[in-house]
Amino acid sequence: MTWRQRFACIVVLIASAAALPAVAAQAQKQKKPAAAAPVDVKVYLTPTCGCCGIWADHMSAAKFNVTREVTRDLQAVPARQRVPAQLQTCHTAVVGNYIVEGHVPADVVRQMLKEKPNIVGIAVPGMPMGSPGMEGPNPRSYSIIAFRADGTTYEYARR
Ligand code: CU
Ligand code: CU
Repeated sequence: MTWRQRFACIVVLIASAAALPAVAAQAQKQKKPAAAAPVDVKVYLTPTCGCCGIWADHMSAAKFNVTREVTRDLQAVPARQRVPAQLQTCHTAVVGNYIVEGHVPADVVRQMLKEKPNIVGIAVPGMPMGSPGMEGPNPRSYSIIAFRADGTTYEYARR
């Protein structure tokens, strides 16, 4: 190896060593999934409803960005009017393009946002014991019901 070749070699080595941290940082950046933006949830609830507040807390704890809209007349809320009468319960929430009625578990809301079913929303009617916000000594199993614009429904999940 001539002096010239050796010198060129050292220059290349130094250059690549200097570039390494930048390359590594770039790779790290690409590997890391973009932090999911917090999903906004607007909860319409009446001033006297305790379990509604506990459900809102459950959603906050699950990293949703919760806003509470206290109203004395839930029936006047446009989102509420889109929930079939037999599914209506103590509070109504709006999440993205969907309506979430009652004590729906946060993970089922996330599942819906991920699967993007062609529905208006999901509901847990009747405030079943054991649902989030309705914790108690006698939990029971319950259905999370999906409802469509034409009023038809189906069981979306079960707990
Ligand atoms: Cu309730
Ligand atoms: Cu409620």
